Amino acid sequence: MVLLEIFALLAILVLVFLLKLIFSWWISPIQRNHKLQTCGFQGPTPNFPFGNIQEMKKKNSVDSSSGSSKLTHDIHSTVFPYFSRWQNSYGKVFIYWLGAEPFLYIADPEFLKKMSTEVIAKRWGKPNVFRNDREPMFGKGLVMAEGSEWVHHRHVIAPLFSPLNLKAMVSIMVDSTKQMIDRWITQIDSGNPEMDVEREIVATAGEIIAKTSCGMKDENARKIGEKLHTLQMKLFKTTRYVGVPYIKCIEMKKTLETKKLGKEIDKLLLYVIETRKESKVKQQGREDLLDLLLQENQVDGKYGKILTTKQLVDECKTFFIGGHETTALAISWTLMLLAMHKDWQNQLRDEIREVVGDKDVDINVLAGLKKMKWVMNEALRLYPTAPNVQRQSREDIKLDNLTIPNGTNMWIDVVAMHHDSSLWGENVNEFRPERFMDDVNGGCNQKMGYLPFGFGGRMCVGRNLSFMEYKIVLTLLLSRFSFNISPNYIHSPCIMLSLRPAYGLPLIVQPL
Ligand code: HEM
Repeated sequence: MVLLEIFALLAILVLVFLLKLIFSWWISPIQRNHKLQTCGFQGPTPNFPFGNIQEMKKKNSVDSSSGSSKLTHDIHSTVFPYFSRWQNSYGKVFIYWLGAEPFLYIADPEFLKKMSTEVIAKRWGKPNVFRNDREPMFGKGLVMAEGSEWVHHRHVIAPLFSPLNLKAMVSIMVDSTKQMIDRWITQIDSGNPEMDVEREIVATAGEIIAKTSCGMKDENARKIGEKLHTLQMKLFKTTRYVGVPYIKCIEMKKTLETKKLGKEIDKLLLYVIETRKESKVKQQGREDLLDLLLQENQVDGKYGKILTTKQLVDECKTFFIGGHETTALAISWTLMLLAMHKDWQNQLRDEIREVVGDKDVDINVLAGLKKMKWVMNEALRLYPTAPNVQRQSREDIKLDNLTIPNGTNMWIDVVAMHHDSSLWGENVNEFRPERFMDDVNGGCNQKMGYLPFGFGGRMCVGRNLSFMEYKIVLTLLLSRFSFNISPNYIHSPCIMLSLRPAYGLPLIVQPL
Protein backbone atom coordinates (compact mmCIF):
# COMPACT_ATOMS: atom_id res chain seq x y z
CA MET A 1 0.00 0.00 0.00
CA VAL A 2 2.79 2.40 1.03
CA LEU A 3 4.71 1.47 -2.12
CA LEU A 4 1.65 2.26 -4.20
CA GLU A 5 1.36 5.65 -2.57
CA ILE A 6 5.02 6.40 -3.26
CA PHE A 7 4.56 5.45 -6.91
CA ALA A 8 1.46 7.60 -7.16
CA LEU A 9 3.34 10.53 -5.64
CA LEU A 10 6.26 10.04 -8.02
CA ALA A 11 3.90 9.81 -10.97
CA ILE A 12 2.25 13.09 -9.94
CA LEU A 13 5.64 14.77 -9.56
CA VAL A 14 6.76 13.57 -12.99
CA LEU A 15 3.46 14.72 -14.47
CA VAL A 16 3.76 18.17 -12.88
CA PHE A 17 7.35 18.40 -14.13
CA LEU A 18 6.32 17.44 -17.66
CA LEU A 19 3.40 19.87 -17.64
CA LYS A 20 5.75 22.63 -16.48
CA LEU A 21 8.15 21.78 -19.29
CA ILE A 22 5.41 21.74 -21.89
CA PHE A 23 4.14 25.07 -20.61
CA SER A 24 7.51 26.85 -20.58
CA TRP A 25 8.96 25.39 -23.79
CA TRP A 26 5.79 25.07 -25.83
CA ILE A 27 2.59 26.74 -24.66
CA SER A 28 3.98 30.03 -23.26
CA PRO A 29 6.21 30.82 -26.30
CA ILE A 30 3.39 29.95 -28.70
CA GLN A 31 0.99 32.17 -26.76
CA ARG A 32 3.44 35.10 -26.88
CA ASN A 33 4.09 34.50 -30.55
CA HIS A 34 0.36 34.42 -31.24
CA LYS A 35 -0.15 37.73 -29.44
CA LEU A 36 2.70 39.29 -31.44
CA GLN A 37 1.19 37.97 -34.66
CA THR A 38 -2.15 39.54 -33.80
CA CYS A 39 -0.25 42.86 -33.60
CA GLY A 40 0.56 42.29 -37.28
CA PHE A 41 4.18 41.13 -36.95
CA GLN A 42 5.38 38.28 -39.11
CA GLY A 43 8.68 36.49 -39.61
CA PRO A 44 10.49 33.45 -40.98
CA THR A 45 8.92 30.07 -40.20
CA PRO A 46 10.56 28.41 -37.16
CA ASN A 47 11.22 24.69 -36.63
CA PHE A 48 10.93 23.10 -33.21
CA PRO A 49 13.30 22.88 -31.28
CA PHE A 50 15.80 25.10 -33.16
CA GLY A 51 13.57 27.99 -34.16
CA ASN A 52 15.46 29.85 -36.92
CA ILE A 53 18.94 29.13 -35.58
CA GLN A 54 19.91 26.71 -38.33
CA GLU A 55 19.32 29.35 -40.99
CA MET A 56 21.31 31.85 -38.88
CA LYS A 57 24.17 29.44 -38.35
CA LYS A 58 24.67 28.76 -42.04
CA LYS A 59 26.13 32.17 -42.70
CA ASN A 60 27.47 33.21 -39.36
CA SER A 61 30.41 31.03 -38.47
CA VAL A 62 33.73 32.83 -38.97
CA ASP A 63 35.35 30.75 -41.68
CA SER A 64 38.75 31.69 -42.97
CA SER A 65 37.61 32.16 -46.55
CA SER A 66 34.94 34.73 -45.80
CA GLY A 67 37.21 37.77 -45.41
CA SER A 68 37.36 40.46 -48.03
CA SER A 69 40.12 42.82 -49.03
CA LYS A 70 37.43 45.32 -50.16
CA LEU A 71 37.15 47.99 -47.55
CA THR A 72 33.50 48.93 -47.39
CA HIS A 73 31.73 50.32 -44.34
CA ASP A 74 28.42 48.89 -45.56
CA ILE A 75 28.66 46.06 -43.03
CA HIS A 76 25.13 45.10 -41.98
CA SER A 77 24.69 42.29 -44.50
CA THR A 78 28.15 40.97 -43.56
CA VAL A 79 27.69 40.85 -39.79
CA PHE A 80 23.98 39.99 -39.71
CA PRO A 81 23.24 38.41 -43.12
CA TYR A 82 20.07 36.70 -41.86
CA PHE A 83 18.60 39.88 -40.35
CA SER A 84 19.42 41.79 -43.50
CA ARG A 85 17.60 39.13 -45.59
CA TRP A 86 14.60 38.92 -43.27
CA GLN A 87 14.31 42.72 -43.20
CA ASN A 88 13.78 42.63 -46.96
CA SER A 89 10.88 40.21 -46.52
CA TYR A 90 9.29 41.31 -43.23
CA GLY A 91 10.27 44.94 -42.64
CA LYS A 92 12.05 46.58 -39.71
CA VAL A 93 10.08 44.86 -36.93
CA PHE A 94 9.51 41.11 -37.19
CA ILE A 95 9.45 37.88 -35.18
CA TYR A 96 12.23 35.31 -35.29
CA TRP A 97 12.94 32.38 -32.99
CA LEU A 98 16.03 31.42 -30.99
CA GLY A 99 15.27 27.80 -30.15
CA ALA A 100 11.89 27.69 -28.45
CA GLU A 101 11.86 31.45 -27.69
CA PRO A 102 10.27 34.03 -29.98
CA PHE A 103 12.14 37.35 -30.30
CA LEU A 104 10.88 40.64 -31.63
CA TYR A 105 13.56 42.03 -33.94
CA ILE A 106 13.58 45.84 -33.96
CA ALA A 107 15.40 48.15 -36.35
CA ASP A 108 12.76 50.89 -36.34
CA PRO A 109 13.72 53.85 -34.07
CA GLU A 110 10.20 55.30 -34.15
CA PHE A 111 8.76 52.05 -32.77
CA LEU A 112 11.53 51.87 -30.16
CA LYS A 113 10.88 55.44 -29.06
CA LYS A 114 7.22 54.69 -28.44
CA MET A 115 8.12 51.67 -26.35
CA SER A 116 10.79 53.39 -24.32
CA THR A 117 8.40 56.19 -23.40
CA GLU A 118 5.99 53.58 -22.05
CA VAL A 119 8.48 51.59 -19.95
CA ILE A 120 10.81 52.94 -17.26
CA ALA A 121 14.27 51.38 -16.85
CA LYS A 122 13.41 49.56 -13.63
CA ARG A 123 10.61 47.67 -15.35
CA TRP A 124 12.70 46.41 -18.28
CA GLY A 125 14.15 42.93 -18.03
CA LYS A 126 16.93 41.15 -19.89
CA PRO A 127 15.99 38.01 -21.91
CA ASN A 128 16.01 35.01 -19.55
CA VAL A 129 17.61 32.83 -22.24
CA PHE A 130 20.66 35.16 -22.36
CA ARG A 131 20.89 35.53 -18.58
CA ASN A 132 21.06 31.78 -18.33
CA ASP A 133 23.44 31.33 -21.27
CA ARG A 134 25.87 34.08 -20.23
CA GLU A 135 25.85 33.24 -16.52
CA PRO A 136 29.55 32.23 -16.39
CA MET A 137 30.51 35.66 -17.82
CA PHE A 138 28.21 38.19 -16.18
CA GLY A 139 26.55 36.28 -13.35
CA LYS A 140 23.94 38.62 -11.90
CA GLY A 141 26.06 41.75 -12.43
CA LEU A 142 24.61 45.10 -13.51
CA VAL A 143 24.24 44.16 -17.20
CA MET A 144 21.87 41.33 -16.28
CA ALA A 145 20.27 42.65 -13.05
CA GLU A 146 16.60 43.64 -13.00
CA GLY A 147 14.02 45.49 -10.91
CA SER A 148 14.95 46.81 -7.47
CA GLU A 149 18.21 44.84 -7.54
CA TRP A 150 19.24 46.72 -10.70
CA VAL A 151 18.32 50.07 -9.05
CA HIS A 152 20.45 49.21 -6.01
CA HIS A 153 23.49 48.10 -8.03
CA ARG A 154 23.28 51.08 -10.38
CA HIS A 155 23.16 53.49 -7.38
CA VAL A 156 26.18 51.83 -5.82
CA ILE A 157 28.22 51.89 -9.01
CA ALA A 158 27.36 55.27 -10.56
CA PRO A 159 29.70 57.30 -8.25
CA LEU A 160 32.65 55.42 -9.72
CA PHE A 161 32.28 57.67 -12.75
CA SER A 162 32.19 60.99 -10.86
CA PRO A 163 34.59 63.63 -12.27
CA LEU A 164 36.80 63.28 -9.19
CA ASN A 165 37.17 59.52 -9.59
CA LEU A 166 37.66 59.78 -13.35
CA LYS A 167 40.33 62.43 -12.85
CA ALA A 168 42.30 60.11 -10.61
CA MET A 169 42.26 57.37 -13.28
CA VAL A 170 44.09 59.49 -15.88
CA SER A 171 47.58 58.58 -14.71
CA ILE A 172 46.82 54.82 -14.81
CA MET A 173 45.58 55.17 -18.39
CA VAL A 174 48.58 57.24 -19.43
CA ASP A 175 51.07 54.80 -17.82
CA SER A 176 49.54 51.69 -19.40
CA THR A 177 49.42 53.35 -22.84
CA LYS A 178 53.02 54.50 -22.54
CA GLN A 179 54.09 50.94 -21.73
CA MET A 180 52.33 49.76 -24.89
CA ILE A 181 54.05 52.52 -26.90
CA ASP A 182 57.44 51.39 -25.57
CA ARG A 183 56.70 47.83 -26.71
CA TRP A 184 55.74 49.13 -30.15
CA ILE A 185 58.94 51.16 -30.45
CA THR A 186 61.04 48.10 -29.55
CA GLN A 187 59.22 46.07 -32.20
CA ILE A 188 59.58 48.79 -34.86
CA ASP A 189 63.28 49.20 -34.04
CA SER A 190 63.72 45.48 -34.58
CA GLY A 191 62.53 46.00 -38.18
CA ASN A 192 58.86 44.96 -37.89
CA PRO A 193 56.48 47.95 -38.19
CA GLU A 194 53.34 45.77 -38.56
CA MET A 195 51.31 45.77 -35.37
CA ASP A 196 48.13 43.82 -34.57
CA VAL A 197 46.59 46.95 -33.18
CA GLU A 198 43.41 45.24 -31.99
CA ARG A 199 45.22 42.62 -29.91
CA GLU A 200 47.54 45.24 -28.40
CA ILE A 201 44.83 47.72 -27.49
CA VAL A 202 42.44 45.11 -26.09
CA ALA A 203 45.24 43.87 -23.79
CA THR A 204 46.10 47.42 -22.67
CA ALA A 205 42.46 48.30 -22.06
CA GLY A 206 42.07 45.09 -20.02
CA GLU A 207 44.98 46.18 -17.87
CA ILE A 208 43.48 49.65 -17.47
CA ILE A 209 40.06 48.41 -16.34
CA ALA A 210 41.61 45.87 -13.94
CA LYS A 211 43.70 48.58 -12.32
CA THR A 212 41.10 51.36 -12.31
CA SER A 213 38.17 49.28 -11.11
CA CYS A 214 39.77 46.75 -8.75
CA GLY A 215 43.33 48.00 -8.20
CA MET A 216 44.61 44.67 -9.52
CA LYS A 217 48.28 43.99 -10.02
CA ASP A 218 49.59 43.09 -13.48
CA GLU A 219 49.81 39.33 -12.96
CA ASN A 220 46.23 38.89 -11.68
CA ALA A 221 44.85 41.27 -14.28
CA ARG A 222 46.59 39.33 -17.05
CA LYS A 223 45.33 35.95 -15.78
CA ILE A 224 41.73 37.12 -15.45
CA GLY A 225 41.87 38.85 -18.84
CA GLU A 226 43.13 35.67 -20.54
CA LYS A 227 40.53 33.44 -18.90
CA LEU A 228 37.68 35.81 -19.73
CA HIS A 229 38.87 36.00 -23.31
CA THR A 230 38.94 32.19 -23.59
CA LEU A 231 35.45 32.03 -22.07
CA GLN A 232 34.17 34.60 -24.52
CA MET A 233 35.63 32.71 -27.50
CA LYS A 234 34.01 29.49 -26.29
CA LEU A 235 30.65 31.15 -25.80
CA PHE A 236 30.47 33.43 -28.83
CA LYS A 237 32.63 32.08 -31.64
CA THR A 238 29.61 30.85 -33.57
CA THR A 239 25.86 31.29 -33.29
CA ARG A 240 24.98 28.68 -30.73
CA TYR A 241 21.82 26.89 -29.87
CA VAL A 242 20.63 29.51 -27.38
CA GLY A 243 17.01 28.92 -26.41
CA VAL A 244 16.96 25.27 -27.49
CA PRO A 245 15.46 23.22 -24.63
CA TYR A 246 18.08 21.48 -22.50
CA ILE A 247 20.89 22.51 -24.82
CA LYS A 248 23.26 22.78 -21.85
CA CYS A 249 22.79 19.06 -21.21
CA ILE A 250 23.19 18.21 -24.89
CA GLU A 251 26.35 20.32 -25.25
CA MET A 252 27.62 18.93 -21.94
CA LYS A 253 31.34 19.24 -22.75
CA LYS A 254 31.05 22.92 -23.57
CA THR A 255 28.80 23.57 -20.57
CA LEU A 256 31.29 21.98 -18.21
CA GLU A 257 34.23 23.81 -19.77
CA THR A 258 32.55 27.22 -19.52
CA LYS A 259 31.37 26.49 -15.98
CA LYS A 260 34.90 25.53 -14.97
CA LEU A 261 36.39 28.67 -16.52
CA GLY A 262 33.69 30.80 -14.86
CA LYS A 263 34.56 29.25 -11.49
CA GLU A 264 38.30 29.83 -11.99
CA ILE A 265 37.65 33.50 -12.76
CA ASP A 266 35.41 33.78 -9.70
CA LYS A 267 38.18 32.30 -7.56
CA LEU A 268 40.76 34.79 -8.82
CA LEU A 269 38.39 37.69 -8.23
CA LEU A 270 37.47 36.41 -4.81
CA TYR A 271 41.15 36.44 -3.90
CA VAL A 272 41.44 40.08 -5.06
CA ILE A 273 38.33 41.01 -3.04
CA GLU A 274 39.41 39.22 0.13
CA THR A 275 42.89 40.74 -0.06
CA ARG A 276 41.42 44.23 -0.35
CA LYS A 277 39.02 43.52 2.54
CA GLU A 278 41.87 42.49 4.76
CA SER A 279 44.23 45.29 3.81
CA LYS A 280 41.50 47.98 4.15
CA VAL A 281 43.70 50.20 1.98
CA LYS A 282 41.87 52.70 -0.20
CA GLN A 283 43.12 53.65 -3.65
CA GLN A 284 44.98 56.91 -3.43
CA GLY A 285 42.77 59.97 -3.84
CA ARG A 286 39.78 58.11 -5.22
CA GLU A 287 37.30 55.30 -4.71
CA ASP A 288 37.47 52.41 -7.11
CA LEU A 289 34.76 49.88 -7.91
CA LEU A 290 35.87 47.57 -5.12
CA ASP A 291 35.76 50.34 -2.50
CA LEU A 292 32.20 51.20 -3.50
CA LEU A 293 31.08 47.59 -3.58
CA LEU A 294 32.76 46.71 -0.28
CA GLN A 295 30.90 49.52 1.49
CA GLU A 296 27.71 47.67 0.49
CA ASN A 297 29.10 44.36 1.68
CA GLN A 298 28.77 45.53 5.30
CA VAL A 299 25.83 45.39 7.65
CA ASP A 300 25.28 49.14 7.39
CA GLY A 301 25.59 49.46 3.60
CA LYS A 302 24.92 53.01 2.38
CA TYR A 303 21.73 51.98 0.58
CA GLY A 304 20.45 49.80 3.38
CA LYS A 305 20.89 46.52 1.52
CA ILE A 306 23.83 44.17 1.67
CA LEU A 307 25.64 43.00 -1.44
CA THR A 308 26.82 39.43 -1.03
CA THR A 309 30.40 38.49 -1.90
CA LYS A 310 29.06 36.55 -4.92
CA GLN A 311 27.38 39.76 -6.13
CA LEU A 312 30.71 41.58 -5.72
CA VAL A 313 32.45 38.97 -7.85
CA ASP A 314 29.74 39.25 -10.54
CA GLU A 315 30.08 43.04 -10.68
CA CYS A 316 33.86 42.83 -11.04
CA LYS A 317 33.45 40.34 -13.91
CA THR A 318 30.81 42.52 -15.54
CA PHE A 319 33.12 45.52 -15.41
CA PHE A 320 36.04 43.63 -16.75
CA ILE A 321 34.06 42.40 -19.75
CA GLY A 322 31.84 45.43 -20.35
CA GLY A 323 34.58 47.90 -19.60
CA HIS A 324 37.54 47.04 -21.75
CA GLU A 325 36.67 45.40 -25.02
CA THR A 326 34.04 47.85 -26.21
CA THR A 327 36.36 50.82 -25.64
CA ALA A 328 39.42 49.02 -27.06
CA LEU A 329 37.52 48.05 -30.19
CA ALA A 330 36.24 51.62 -30.62
CA ILE A 331 39.88 52.79 -30.59
CA SER A 332 40.94 49.98 -32.96
CA TRP A 333 38.20 50.68 -35.54
CA THR A 334 39.06 54.38 -35.29
CA LEU A 335 42.71 53.67 -36.13
CA MET A 336 41.57 51.60 -39.13
CA LEU A 337 39.36 54.51 -40.28
CA LEU A 338 42.15 57.07 -39.72
CA ALA A 339 44.59 54.87 -41.63
CA MET A 340 42.13 54.98 -44.55
CA HIS A 341 41.38 58.70 -44.19
CA LYS A 342 44.73 60.44 -43.86
CA ASP A 343 43.10 63.88 -43.93
CA TRP A 344 41.33 63.09 -40.65
CA GLN A 345 44.46 61.53 -39.16
CA ASN A 346 46.25 64.84 -39.84
CA GLN A 347 43.36 66.97 -38.60
CA LEU A 348 43.33 65.11 -35.27
CA ARG A 349 47.10 65.44 -34.94
CA ASP A 350 46.80 69.21 -35.52
CA GLU A 351 44.04 69.41 -32.91
CA ILE A 352 46.13 67.50 -30.37
CA ARG A 353 49.06 69.86 -31.01
CA GLU A 354 46.82 72.91 -30.52
CA VAL A 355 44.78 71.72 -27.53
CA VAL A 356 47.21 69.52 -25.62
CA GLY A 357 50.60 70.75 -26.83
CA ASP A 358 53.17 70.24 -24.07
CA LYS A 359 50.57 70.17 -21.31
CA ASP A 360 49.98 67.08 -19.19
CA VAL A 361 46.92 65.16 -20.32
CA ASP A 362 44.10 65.83 -17.89
CA ILE A 363 40.32 65.73 -17.89
CA ASN A 364 39.91 69.47 -18.63
CA VAL A 365 42.42 69.48 -21.46
CA LEU A 366 40.77 66.43 -23.01
CA ALA A 367 37.42 68.24 -23.11
CA GLY A 368 38.92 70.56 -25.74
CA LEU A 369 39.42 67.73 -28.25
CA LYS A 370 36.20 68.40 -30.18
CA LYS A 371 37.11 66.83 -33.51
CA MET A 372 38.26 63.71 -31.74
CA LYS A 373 34.80 63.40 -30.22
CA TRP A 374 33.17 63.68 -33.67
CA VAL A 375 35.54 60.98 -34.91
CA MET A 376 34.63 58.73 -31.96
CA ASN A 377 30.92 59.24 -32.62
CA GLU A 378 31.35 58.46 -36.31
CA ALA A 379 33.52 55.37 -35.64
CA LEU A 380 30.85 54.08 -33.22
CA ARG A 381 28.16 54.78 -35.80
CA LEU A 382 29.88 52.81 -38.58
CA TYR A 383 31.29 50.15 -36.23
CA PRO A 384 29.12 50.07 -33.08
CA THR A 385 31.22 47.88 -30.83
CA ALA A 386 28.10 46.92 -28.87
CA PRO A 387 26.15 45.85 -31.98
CA ASN A 388 22.78 45.18 -30.35
CA VAL A 389 20.74 45.93 -27.27
CA GLN A 390 18.41 43.42 -25.64
CA ARG A 391 15.33 43.68 -23.49
CA GLN A 392 12.51 41.49 -22.20
CA SER A 393 9.20 43.03 -21.24
CA ARG A 394 8.04 42.33 -17.70
CA GLU A 395 4.52 43.59 -18.31
CA ASP A 396 2.18 44.18 -21.27
CA ILE A 397 3.25 47.29 -23.19
CA LYS A 398 0.46 49.29 -24.80
CA LEU A 399 1.43 51.20 -27.96
CA ASP A 400 -1.26 53.02 -29.94
CA ASN A 401 -3.62 50.13 -30.66
CA LEU A 402 -1.07 47.34 -30.12
CA THR A 403 -0.22 45.31 -27.02
CA ILE A 404 3.29 43.87 -26.80
CA PRO A 405 2.77 40.98 -24.37
CA ASN A 406 4.52 40.48 -21.07
CA GLY A 407 7.61 38.28 -21.56
CA THR A 408 8.41 39.47 -25.11
CA ASN A 409 12.12 39.17 -25.88
CA MET A 410 13.52 42.04 -27.94
CA TRP A 411 16.63 42.26 -30.06
CA ILE A 412 17.44 45.81 -31.13
CA ASP A 413 19.73 45.83 -34.16
CA VAL A 414 22.00 48.84 -33.66
CA VAL A 415 24.17 48.03 -36.70
CA ALA A 416 21.08 48.09 -38.94
CA MET A 417 19.88 51.47 -37.63
CA HIS A 418 23.35 53.03 -37.93
CA HIS A 419 23.52 51.94 -41.59
CA ASP A 420 19.98 52.83 -42.63
CA SER A 421 20.00 55.38 -45.47
CA SER A 422 16.40 56.39 -44.72
CA LEU A 423 17.68 57.70 -41.34
CA TRP A 424 21.08 59.11 -42.35
CA GLY A 425 20.85 59.93 -46.04
CA GLU A 426 22.60 58.56 -49.08
CA ASN A 427 26.11 58.99 -47.63
CA VAL A 428 25.24 56.67 -44.72
CA ASN A 429 28.18 54.32 -45.38
CA GLU A 430 30.79 57.06 -45.72
CA PHE A 431 33.15 58.14 -42.94
CA ARG A 432 32.13 61.76 -42.30
CA PRO A 433 32.85 62.81 -38.70
CA GLU A 434 31.65 66.33 -39.50
CA ARG A 435 28.05 65.09 -39.29
CA PHE A 436 28.51 65.34 -35.51
CA MET A 437 29.86 68.91 -35.63
CA ASP A 438 26.61 70.65 -34.71
CA ASP A 439 24.42 67.70 -33.81
CA VAL A 440 25.03 65.11 -31.08
CA ASN A 441 22.80 62.79 -33.07
CA GLY A 442 24.90 63.17 -36.22
CA GLY A 443 22.02 64.47 -38.32
CA CYS A 444 20.04 61.24 -37.93
CA ASN A 445 16.41 62.09 -38.57
CA GLN A 446 15.20 59.94 -35.64
CA LYS A 447 16.38 60.53 -32.08
CA MET A 448 16.66 56.82 -31.36
CA GLY A 449 18.43 55.93 -34.60
CA TYR A 450 21.87 56.42 -32.98
CA LEU A 451 22.38 54.10 -30.00
CA PRO A 452 26.05 53.20 -29.48
CA PHE A 453 25.54 53.19 -25.69
CA GLY A 454 21.99 51.84 -25.54
CA PHE A 455 18.98 53.85 -24.40
CA GLY A 456 16.89 55.09 -21.47
CA GLY A 457 17.84 54.58 -17.84
CA ARG A 458 19.82 51.44 -18.71
CA MET A 459 22.18 53.36 -20.97
CA CYS A 460 25.85 52.40 -20.53
CA VAL A 461 26.98 53.45 -17.06
CA GLY A 462 30.66 53.58 -18.12
CA ARG A 463 30.43 55.87 -21.14
CA ASN A 464 32.26 58.81 -19.54
CA LEU A 465 35.13 56.54 -18.63
CA SER A 466 35.27 55.26 -22.19
CA PHE A 467 35.27 58.83 -23.65
CA MET A 468 38.23 59.64 -21.44
CA GLU A 469 40.16 56.47 -22.19
CA TYR A 470 39.52 56.84 -25.93
CA LYS A 471 40.88 60.37 -25.94
CA ILE A 472 43.94 59.57 -23.82
CA VAL A 473 45.00 56.50 -25.83
CA LEU A 474 44.40 58.19 -29.19
CA THR A 475 46.17 61.39 -28.14
CA LEU A 476 49.29 59.50 -27.08
CA LEU A 477 49.28 57.23 -30.15
CA LEU A 478 48.68 59.95 -32.75
CA SER A 479 51.35 62.15 -31.18
CA ARG A 480 53.95 59.41 -31.66
CA PHE A 481 52.99 57.43 -34.76
CA SER A 482 51.37 57.53 -38.17
CA PHE A 483 49.14 54.66 -39.25
CA ASN A 484 48.63 52.90 -42.59
CA ILE A 485 46.57 49.85 -43.51
CA SER A 486 48.76 46.74 -43.79
CA PRO A 487 48.48 44.70 -47.00
CA ASN A 488 47.77 41.76 -44.65
CA TYR A 489 44.57 43.31 -43.28
CA ILE A 490 41.42 41.39 -44.20
CA HIS A 491 38.31 43.48 -43.71
CA SER A 492 35.86 41.13 -42.05
CA PRO A 493 33.88 42.66 -39.19
CA CYS A 494 32.15 39.95 -37.18
CA ILE A 495 30.20 39.56 -33.96
CA MET A 496 31.74 37.81 -31.01
CA LEU A 497 29.63 39.51 -28.35
CA SER A 498 31.28 42.77 -29.53
CA LEU A 499 31.80 43.89 -33.14
CA ARG A 500 35.41 43.07 -33.94
CA PRO A 501 37.73 42.45 -36.89
CA ALA A 502 37.63 38.66 -37.45
CA TYR A 503 41.32 38.40 -38.34
CA GLY A 504 42.76 41.14 -36.14
CA LEU A 505 43.77 44.60 -37.30
CA PRO A 506 47.31 44.68 -38.67
CA LEU A 507 48.43 48.25 -39.34
CA ILE A 508 51.80 49.62 -40.44
CA VAL A 509 52.94 51.88 -37.62
CA GLN A 510 55.64 54.48 -38.26
CA PRO A 511 57.19 56.75 -35.65
CA LEU A 512 56.69 60.43 -36.50
C1 HEM B 1 32.95 52.44 -26.33
C2 HEM B 1 32.73 51.88 -25.17
C3 HEM B 1 31.42 51.30 -24.70
C4 HEM B 1 30.30 50.97 -25.42
C5 HEM B 1 30.08 51.10 -26.92
C6 HEM B 1 29.32 50.46 -24.47
C7 HEM B 1 28.04 50.06 -24.82
C8 HEM B 1 27.09 49.65 -23.92
C9 HEM B 1 25.73 49.28 -24.26
C10 HEM B 1 25.13 49.31 -25.64
C11 HEM B 1 25.12 48.91 -23.12
C12 HEM B 1 23.67 48.40 -22.97
C13 HEM B 1 22.76 49.57 -22.72
C14 HEM B 1 21.31 49.20 -22.76
O1 HEM B 1 20.94 48.07 -22.45
O2 HEM B 1 20.49 50.10 -23.10
C15 HEM B 1 26.07 49.05 -22.04
C16 HEM B 1 25.79 48.79 -20.71
C17 HEM B 1 26.75 48.75 -19.75
N1 HEM B 1 28.06 49.13 -19.86
FE1 HEM B 1 28.95 49.89 -21.51
N2 HEM B 1 29.88 50.46 -23.22
C18 HEM B 1 31.15 50.96 -23.31
C19 HEM B 1 32.04 51.15 -22.26
C20 HEM B 1 31.83 50.75 -20.97
C21 HEM B 1 32.77 50.89 -19.88
C22 HEM B 1 34.13 51.56 -20.01
C23 HEM B 1 32.19 50.30 -18.80
C24 HEM B 1 32.71 50.16 -17.39
C25 HEM B 1 33.81 50.61 -16.94
C26 HEM B 1 30.89 49.82 -19.18
C27 HEM B 1 30.01 49.17 -18.36
C28 HEM B 1 28.69 48.90 -18.67
C29 HEM B 1 27.72 48.37 -17.72
C30 HEM B 1 28.02 47.95 -16.29
C31 HEM B 1 26.50 48.29 -18.40
C32 HEM B 1 25.16 47.81 -17.83
C33 HEM B 1 24.36 49.07 -17.44
C34 HEM B 1 22.95 48.78 -16.94
O3 HEM B 1 22.32 47.83 -17.41
O4 HEM B 1 22.49 49.55 -16.09
N3 HEM B 1 30.70 50.10 -20.51
N4 HEM B 1 27.26 49.49 -22.55
